[in-house]
Amino acid sequence: MKTTIAEVYKHVGEEVTIGAWLANKRFSGKIAFLQLRDGTGFMQGVVVKAEIGEEKFQEAKSLTQESSLYVTGKIVEDTRSPLGFEMQVTDFELIHEAVDYPITPKEHGTEFLMDHRHLWLRSKKQHAVMKVRNEIIRATYEFFNEQGYVKVDPPILTGASAEGTTELFHTKYFDEDAYLSQSGQLYMEAAAMALGKVFSFGPTFRAEKSKTRRHLIEFWMIEPEMAFMDHEDSLQVQEQYVSHVVQSVLKNCKIELSILDRDTSKLENIQAPFPRITYDEAIQLVKEKGFDDVEWGDDFGAPHETAIAESFDKPVFITNWPAEIKAFYMKPDPKRPDVVLCADLIAPEGYGEIIGGSQRIDDMELMKQRYEEHGLTGPAYEWYLQLRQYGSVPHSGFGLGLERTVAWIAGVEHVRETIPFPRLLNRLYP
Ligand code: 4AD
Ligand code: MG
Repeated sequence: MKTTIAEVYKHVGEEVTIGAWLANKRFSGKIAFLQLRDGTGFMQGVVVKAEIGEEKFQEAKSLTQESSLYVTGKIVEDTRSPLGFEMQVTDFELIHEAVDYPITPKEHGTEFLMDHRHLWLRSKKQHAVMKVRNEIIRATYEFFNEQGYVKVDPPILTGASAEGTTELFHTKYFDEDAYLSQSGQLYMEAAAMALGKVFSFGPTFRAEKSKTRRHLIEFWMIEPEMAFMDHEDSLQVQEQYVSHVVQSVLKNCKIELSILDRDTSKLENIQAPFPRITYDEAIQLVKEKGFDDVEWGDDFGAPHETAIAESFDKPVFITNWPAEIKAFYMKPDPKRPDVVLCADLIAPEGYGEIIGGSQRIDDMELMKQRYEEHGLTGPAYEWYLQLRQYGSVPHSGFGLGLERTVAWIAGVEHVRETIPFPRLLNRLYP
């Protein structure tokens, strides 16, 4: 009977066959311990010379790392392993012998591992991170589908910028100029006017010359957009969504979080509501934390965000930022037009901004004024104005960066390990 490591718990006491790779092995006298992986998980296979015979035992001893095999044996409980089961091997068949696998159990430098990313993905830690990423994606679809949102896919090739012109990837679109999408937001606003509550999930591109542990050139963003919702309504969606994602990972990725050595007590606490401070209060707070030179109107850098996050044990919203440092589409606070109705959600433990969101300008005249101030002209922008011309309504939305969220929940230092094949400032391969 063929099965997978993830399913062995259904076959305790039975003999099964698993297609696997040899991740590692060790011996003690007349016993060989094979560390098997099959994509669904990791499991130990125990080969006993007296049971399997001299010839097969020697063959087991000579198996090389990452060779592929069909392994047959009896599943027994093993309380010492995170999986809870192991296999008493009765037979195995080599499928393909791997010669000189480059990633050995010893330590390797990050650049070496990044050069071998196509193989590095097979390792236990990277496997666990990808499983956490997958669970976050699954929980995202679950959350928005349950709340009646419609998934909408905005285009990736666009005629204009959505978030500012400095970070655009340029390409030719036959004879025209085109750009890779920085954000699907403008299209999601159109979709919200057609479908009410919508969300997107897709790749976005920023030609940023940033080389930090939080920046990728290509990253994936979840962008919900809601008609008839003001900024406060949107903050509630955000905190409920993030709580749902964290609780889902805690529930469904126990083995992975233990492989990653994640301190889960810090995650258990992540339940809505989240604390909120205004940008004004945040400026005060960072000044108190020793950043004397920060002034009203400055953007926060990573050290400031970390200092702010330290004061809270949940993600914290920084609301009402100065209009001059935020995007053109954000709605001014009616009580105070120098600030806009927006928030950044800062993750705990130094992982930085995971969400940027705002209420959007719904007034045609004000939007035209912003166009002029930002020099946004041409047909690429005209359609966006029409959303304010035909039945304009209050609406809000936000974008959650998937990789930063994975980094935080999995407890991984750098976003390069949270996406299968990271595109970084100096890296387009593999
Ligand atoms: O704050 P940003 O730029 O917001 C927008 O693009 C809005 N249009 C979203 C919206 O309202 N629909 O980006 C949103 C999030 C950030 O909070 C961050 O998590 C992530 O995207 N992000 C990045 N992640 C990795 N690498 C980068 N270079 C990132 N830039 C932004
Ligand atoms: Mg932002």
